[in-house]
Amino acid sequence: MKLAIIFFSPTGNTAKMAREIKINFETMGVGVDGYDITARSDREKGIDLGPYQGIVFGFPVHSLRAPKVVREWLRTLEGHGKKASLFFTYGGFTVHPAHHSTRQILTEQNFTVVSSAEFPGAHPFNLGGWRAFTDRPNESDFNRAQTYSQATLNRFTGQDPGMLGDLEQSIYSGEQLDGFEALRFKIITQLPTRAGRECRLCMACEDTCPTGAMDAATGRVDSRKCIACLGCVANCPDQALSINDTTPSWAFKLDLGKTTEQDLNRQQGKIYL
Ligand SMILES: Cc1cc2nc3c(=O)[nH]c(=O)nc-3n(C[C@H](O)[C@H](O)[C@H](O)COP(=O)(O)O)c2cc1C
Ligand code: SF4
Ligand code: SF4
Repeated sequence: MKLAIIFFSPTGNTAKMAREIKINFETMGVGVDGYDITARSDREKGIDLGPYQGIVFGFPVHSLRAPKVVREWLRTLEGHGKKASLFFTYGGFTVHPAHHSTRQILTEQNFTVVSSAEFPGAHPFNLGGWRAFTDRPNESDFNRAQTYSQATLNRFTGQDPGMLGDLEQSIYSGEQLDGFEALRFKIITQLPTRAGRECRLCMACEDTCPTGAMDAATGRVDSRKCIACLGCVANCPDQALSINDTTPSWAFKLDLGKTTEQDLNRQQGKIYL
Protein backbone atom coordinates (compact mmCIF):
# COMPACT_ATOMS: atom_id res chain seq x y z
CA MET A 1 0.00 0.00 0.00
CA LYS A 2 1.20 3.50 -0.84
CA LEU A 3 -0.32 6.70 0.59
CA ALA A 4 -0.08 10.40 -0.21
CA ILE A 5 -0.32 13.20 2.35
CA ILE A 6 -1.23 16.50 0.71
CA PHE A 7 -1.11 19.56 2.95
CA PHE A 8 -1.42 23.36 2.89
CA SER A 9 0.28 25.17 5.75
CA PRO A 10 1.23 28.86 5.61
CA THR A 11 2.40 29.12 9.25
CA GLY A 12 3.58 25.54 9.74
CA ASN A 13 1.07 23.89 12.14
CA THR A 14 -0.56 21.69 9.53
CA ALA A 15 2.88 20.79 8.15
CA LYS A 16 3.94 19.65 11.66
CA MET A 17 0.89 17.39 11.97
CA ALA A 18 1.40 16.07 8.41
CA ARG A 19 4.98 15.16 9.32
CA GLU A 20 3.84 13.29 12.45
CA ILE A 21 1.10 11.43 10.57
CA LYS A 22 3.57 10.47 7.82
CA ILE A 23 5.97 9.06 10.42
CA ASN A 24 3.10 7.13 12.05
CA PHE A 25 2.16 5.47 8.75
CA GLU A 26 5.80 4.70 7.96
CA THR A 27 6.24 3.14 11.40
CA MET A 28 3.29 0.89 10.54
CA GLY A 29 5.18 -0.24 7.41
CA VAL A 30 3.40 1.91 4.81
CA GLY A 31 5.12 4.01 2.14
CA VAL A 32 4.01 7.67 2.14
CA ASP A 33 4.75 10.57 -0.21
CA GLY A 34 4.22 14.08 1.20
CA TYR A 35 3.09 17.01 -0.97
CA ASP A 36 3.16 20.60 0.28
CA ILE A 37 0.69 22.62 -1.79
CA THR A 38 1.04 25.90 0.12
CA ALA A 39 2.83 27.79 -2.65
CA ARG A 40 0.75 28.61 -5.70
CA SER A 41 3.47 27.14 -7.96
CA ASP A 42 3.18 23.77 -6.15
CA ARG A 43 -0.60 23.67 -6.63
CA GLU A 44 -0.14 24.50 -10.30
CA LYS A 45 2.24 21.53 -10.80
CA GLY A 46 -0.59 19.09 -10.06
CA ILE A 47 -0.21 15.66 -8.43
CA ASP A 48 -0.63 12.26 -10.09
CA LEU A 49 -2.81 10.36 -7.61
CA GLY A 50 -2.57 7.14 -9.68
CA PRO A 51 0.00 5.32 -7.52
CA TYR A 52 -1.85 5.85 -4.21
CA GLN A 53 -4.42 3.64 -2.49
CA GLY A 54 -5.25 6.31 0.09
CA ILE A 55 -4.92 10.10 0.20
CA VAL A 56 -4.73 12.19 3.38
CA PHE A 57 -5.57 15.90 3.02
CA GLY A 58 -4.47 18.31 5.77
CA PHE A 59 -5.56 21.97 5.88
CA PRO A 60 -5.88 24.85 8.35
CA VAL A 61 -9.37 26.16 9.09
CA HIS A 62 -9.71 29.66 7.60
CA SER A 63 -13.00 31.42 8.34
CA LEU A 64 -14.74 28.14 9.25
CA ARG A 65 -13.71 26.24 6.11
CA ALA A 66 -10.66 25.02 4.23
CA PRO A 67 -9.00 28.11 2.68
CA LYS A 68 -10.66 29.25 -0.55
CA VAL A 69 -7.57 28.55 -2.70
CA VAL A 70 -7.56 25.01 -1.34
CA ARG A 71 -11.26 24.52 -2.03
CA GLU A 72 -10.70 25.68 -5.59
CA TRP A 73 -7.72 23.37 -6.02
CA LEU A 74 -9.65 20.37 -4.66
CA ARG A 75 -12.23 20.98 -7.38
CA THR A 76 -9.53 20.25 -10.00
CA LEU A 77 -8.95 16.70 -8.68
CA GLU A 78 -10.57 13.44 -9.84
CA GLY A 79 -10.77 10.85 -7.07
CA HIS A 80 -11.77 7.79 -9.15
CA GLY A 81 -13.44 6.37 -6.02
CA LYS A 82 -10.14 6.33 -4.05
CA LYS A 83 -10.29 6.40 -0.27
CA ALA A 84 -9.39 9.72 1.34
CA SER A 85 -9.07 11.11 4.85
CA LEU A 86 -9.08 14.69 6.12
CA PHE A 87 -7.51 16.51 8.99
CA PHE A 88 -7.56 20.15 10.02
CA THR A 89 -5.57 22.31 12.35
CA TYR A 90 -7.57 25.11 13.93
CA GLY A 91 -7.02 28.06 16.25
CA GLY A 92 -9.60 27.35 18.98
CA PHE A 93 -12.83 28.58 17.41
CA THR A 94 -15.44 27.13 15.05
CA VAL A 95 -14.30 24.08 13.07
CA HIS A 96 -17.27 21.91 12.19
CA PRO A 97 -18.29 23.59 8.88
CA ALA A 98 -14.77 22.81 7.59
CA HIS A 99 -15.22 19.04 7.98
CA HIS A 100 -18.64 19.13 6.46
CA SER A 101 -17.94 21.37 3.46
CA THR A 102 -14.60 19.75 2.58
CA ARG A 103 -16.07 16.26 2.77
CA GLN A 104 -18.78 17.46 0.42
CA ILE A 105 -16.23 18.74 -2.12
CA LEU A 106 -14.19 15.51 -1.97
CA THR A 107 -17.32 13.40 -2.41
CA GLU A 108 -18.33 15.49 -5.42
CA GLN A 109 -14.83 14.94 -6.83
CA ASN A 110 -15.41 11.17 -6.48
CA PHE A 111 -13.32 10.38 -3.37
CA THR A 112 -14.63 8.11 -0.61
CA VAL A 113 -13.93 9.86 2.70
CA VAL A 114 -13.19 7.40 5.52
CA SER A 115 -12.17 9.62 8.45
CA SER A 116 -11.46 13.15 9.61
CA ALA A 117 -9.75 14.88 12.53
CA GLU A 118 -8.96 18.28 14.01
CA PHE A 119 -5.86 19.31 15.97
CA PRO A 120 -5.10 22.59 17.78
CA GLY A 121 -2.55 24.88 16.10
CA ALA A 122 -1.17 28.26 17.24
CA HIS A 123 -3.40 30.94 15.76
CA PRO A 124 -1.53 33.15 13.23
CA PHE A 125 -3.24 36.20 14.80
CA ASN A 126 -1.03 35.51 17.86
CA LEU A 127 1.59 37.33 15.75
CA GLY A 128 -0.35 40.50 16.58
CA GLY A 129 -1.07 39.66 20.22
CA TRP A 130 -3.79 36.97 20.47
CA ARG A 131 -3.05 34.06 22.82
CA ALA A 132 -4.80 31.10 21.17
CA PHE A 133 -2.99 27.74 21.39
CA THR A 134 0.39 29.46 21.67
CA ASP A 135 2.28 26.16 22.22
CA ARG A 136 0.26 23.85 19.96
CA PRO A 137 0.44 21.35 18.44
CA ASN A 138 2.16 19.61 21.36
CA GLU A 139 2.86 16.04 22.51
CA SER A 140 -0.78 15.35 23.41
CA ASP A 141 -1.80 16.40 19.88
CA PHE A 142 0.89 14.12 18.40
CA ASN A 143 -0.43 11.24 20.54
CA ARG A 144 -3.94 11.82 19.24
CA ALA A 145 -2.52 11.89 15.71
CA GLN A 146 -1.19 8.39 16.34
CA THR A 147 -4.69 7.11 17.12
CA TYR A 148 -6.04 8.93 14.04
CA SER A 149 -3.30 7.40 11.81
CA GLN A 150 -4.01 3.86 13.04
CA ALA A 151 -7.78 4.19 12.62
CA THR A 152 -7.36 5.73 9.17
CA LEU A 153 -4.95 3.04 8.02
CA ASN A 154 -7.42 0.37 9.15
CA ARG A 155 -10.01 2.00 6.92
CA PHE A 156 -7.64 2.42 3.97
CA THR A 157 -6.67 -1.29 4.09
CA GLY A 158 -10.29 -2.43 4.57
CA GLN A 159 -9.49 -4.14 7.90
CA ASP A 160 -12.14 -1.73 9.17
CA PRO A 161 -14.74 -1.45 6.39
CA GLY A 162 -16.38 1.69 7.88
CA MET A 163 -16.64 5.10 6.22
CA LEU A 164 -16.80 8.57 7.78
CA GLY A 165 -20.16 8.84 9.54
CA ASP A 166 -22.54 11.77 9.91
CA LEU A 167 -20.91 15.10 10.75
CA GLU A 168 -22.41 18.06 12.57
CA GLN A 169 -24.40 20.09 10.03
CA SER A 170 -23.20 23.65 9.54
CA ILE A 171 -25.52 26.18 11.12
CA TYR A 172 -24.38 28.61 8.39
CA SER A 173 -25.35 28.63 4.72
CA GLY A 174 -22.71 28.79 1.98
CA GLU A 175 -23.57 32.47 1.45
CA GLN A 176 -23.06 33.25 5.15
CA LEU A 177 -19.69 31.48 5.09
CA ASP A 178 -18.67 33.46 2.00
CA GLY A 179 -19.66 36.58 3.95
CA PHE A 180 -17.37 35.68 6.91
CA GLU A 181 -14.52 35.07 4.48
CA ALA A 182 -15.01 38.48 2.89
CA LEU A 183 -14.78 40.19 6.31
CA ARG A 184 -11.21 39.16 6.93
CA PHE A 185 -9.57 42.59 6.63
CA LYS A 186 -12.45 44.52 8.11
CA ILE A 187 -12.52 43.39 11.74
CA ILE A 188 -9.31 41.93 13.15
CA THR A 189 -6.35 42.05 10.79
CA GLN A 190 -5.02 44.61 8.40
CA LEU A 191 -2.67 43.76 5.53
CA PRO A 192 0.86 42.65 6.45
CA THR A 193 3.32 45.51 6.14
CA ARG A 194 7.07 46.04 5.88
CA ALA A 195 6.80 49.77 6.47
CA GLY A 196 9.94 51.24 7.96
CA ARG A 197 11.87 47.97 8.13
CA GLU A 198 14.96 46.80 6.24
CA CYS A 199 15.09 43.37 4.65
CA ARG A 200 17.63 41.29 2.74
CA LEU A 201 15.26 40.84 -0.25
CA CYS A 202 15.49 37.06 -0.02
CA MET A 203 12.18 36.85 -1.94
CA ALA A 204 10.85 34.06 0.33
CA CYS A 205 7.65 35.96 1.14
CA GLU A 206 6.85 36.37 -2.56
CA ASP A 207 7.87 32.82 -3.55
CA THR A 208 5.84 31.12 -0.81
CA CYS A 209 2.77 33.38 -0.73
CA PRO A 210 -0.13 31.02 -1.51
CA THR A 211 -1.95 33.55 -3.68
CA GLY A 212 0.70 35.72 -5.37
CA ALA A 213 -0.36 38.69 -3.22
CA MET A 214 3.12 39.70 -2.00
CA ASP A 215 5.56 41.85 -3.95
CA ALA A 216 8.90 41.32 -2.18
CA ALA A 217 10.68 44.14 -4.02
CA THR A 218 8.27 46.80 -2.75
CA GLY A 219 6.95 44.97 0.34
CA ARG A 220 3.42 45.74 -0.84
CA VAL A 221 0.52 43.33 -0.55
CA ASP A 222 -2.36 43.15 -3.01
CA SER A 223 -5.51 43.34 -0.87
CA ARG A 224 -7.59 41.66 -3.60
CA LYS A 225 -5.42 38.54 -3.46
CA CYS A 226 -4.21 38.35 0.18
CA ILE A 227 -5.99 35.71 2.30
CA ALA A 228 -4.47 36.89 5.62
CA CYS A 229 -2.76 33.53 6.15
CA LEU A 230 0.22 35.41 7.67
CA GLY A 231 2.72 32.92 6.24
CA CYS A 232 4.86 35.85 5.06
CA VAL A 233 4.94 37.40 8.54
CA ALA A 234 5.66 34.10 10.31
CA ASN A 235 8.44 32.99 7.97
CA CYS A 236 10.39 36.17 7.15
CA PRO A 237 14.01 35.50 8.25
CA ASP A 238 14.50 39.21 9.11
CA GLN A 239 11.19 39.57 10.95
CA ALA A 240 10.67 42.53 8.66
CA LEU A 241 6.95 41.95 8.17
CA SER A 242 4.26 42.56 10.76
CA ILE A 243 0.54 42.92 11.22
CA ASN A 244 -1.45 45.34 13.31
CA ASP A 245 -1.90 44.95 17.06
CA THR A 246 -4.64 42.31 17.44
CA THR A 247 -4.87 42.51 21.25
CA PRO A 248 -7.93 44.83 21.23
CA SER A 249 -9.95 42.12 19.42
CA TRP A 250 -8.88 39.24 21.68
CA ALA A 251 -11.42 39.77 24.48
CA PHE A 252 -14.12 40.44 21.88
CA LYS A 253 -13.28 37.20 20.05
CA LEU A 254 -13.39 35.17 23.31
CA ASP A 255 -16.77 36.75 24.12
CA LEU A 256 -18.08 35.93 20.67
CA GLY A 257 -16.90 32.32 21.06
CA LYS A 258 -18.52 32.22 24.56
CA THR A 259 -15.24 31.00 26.04
CA THR A 260 -12.31 32.09 28.22
CA GLU A 261 -8.63 32.04 27.37
CA GLN A 262 -8.11 29.17 29.84
CA ASP A 263 -10.94 27.02 28.49
CA LEU A 264 -9.93 27.68 24.90
CA ASN A 265 -6.34 26.60 25.50
CA ARG A 266 -7.48 23.41 27.29
CA GLN A 267 -9.15 22.10 24.13
CA GLN A 268 -8.04 18.77 22.73
CA GLY A 269 -8.20 17.52 19.17
CA LYS A 270 -10.93 15.20 17.92
CA ILE A 271 -11.14 12.22 15.59
CA TYR A 272 -14.21 11.56 13.44
CA LEU A 273 -14.87 8.03 12.16
C1 LIG B 1 -7.43 33.98 7.97
C2 LIG B 1 -7.54 32.95 9.07
C3 LIG B 1 -8.79 32.49 9.46
C4 LIG B 1 -8.89 31.54 10.49
N1 LIG B 1 -10.12 31.08 10.83
C5 LIG B 1 -10.24 30.18 11.83
C6 LIG B 1 -11.53 29.68 12.21
O1 LIG B 1 -12.57 29.99 11.60
N2 LIG B 1 -11.61 28.83 13.26
C7 LIG B 1 -10.49 28.45 13.96
O2 LIG B 1 -10.62 27.71 14.94
N3 LIG B 1 -9.25 28.86 13.59
C8 LIG B 1 -9.10 29.71 12.55
N4 LIG B 1 -7.84 30.13 12.16
C9 LIG B 1 -6.65 29.57 12.84
C10 LIG B 1 -5.94 28.48 12.01
O3 LIG B 1 -6.88 27.54 11.53
C11 LIG B 1 -4.90 27.70 12.81
O4 LIG B 1 -4.11 28.48 13.61
C12 LIG B 1 -4.06 26.78 11.93
O5 LIG B 1 -3.37 25.87 12.74
C13 LIG B 1 -3.06 27.50 11.05
O6 LIG B 1 -2.45 26.52 10.24
P1 LIG B 1 -1.02 26.65 9.53
O7 LIG B 1 0.00 26.93 10.62
O8 LIG B 1 -0.81 25.32 8.90
O9 LIG B 1 -1.12 27.78 8.57
C14 LIG B 1 -7.71 31.05 11.13
C15 LIG B 1 -6.46 31.54 10.72
C16 LIG B 1 -6.36 32.46 9.71
C17 LIG B 1 -5.01 32.94 9.29
S1 SF4 C 1 10.84 37.25 3.45
FE1 SF4 C 1 11.42 39.04 4.68
S2 SF4 C 1 13.61 39.35 4.17
FE2 SF4 C 1 12.75 38.04 2.54
S3 SF4 C 1 12.07 39.52 0.95
FE3 SF4 C 1 10.31 39.12 2.26
S4 SF4 C 1 10.33 40.78 3.76
FE4 SF4 C 1 12.38 40.70 2.83
S1 SF4 D 1 0.67 38.37 1.45
FE1 SF4 D 1 -1.25 37.66 2.36
S2 SF4 D 1 -1.69 35.70 1.32
FE2 SF4 D 1 0.48 36.20 0.93
S3 SF4 D 1 1.62 35.12 2.53
FE3 SF4 D 1 1.22 37.21 3.27
S4 SF4 D 1 -0.69 37.08 4.44
FE4 SF4 D 1 -0.55 35.20 3.17
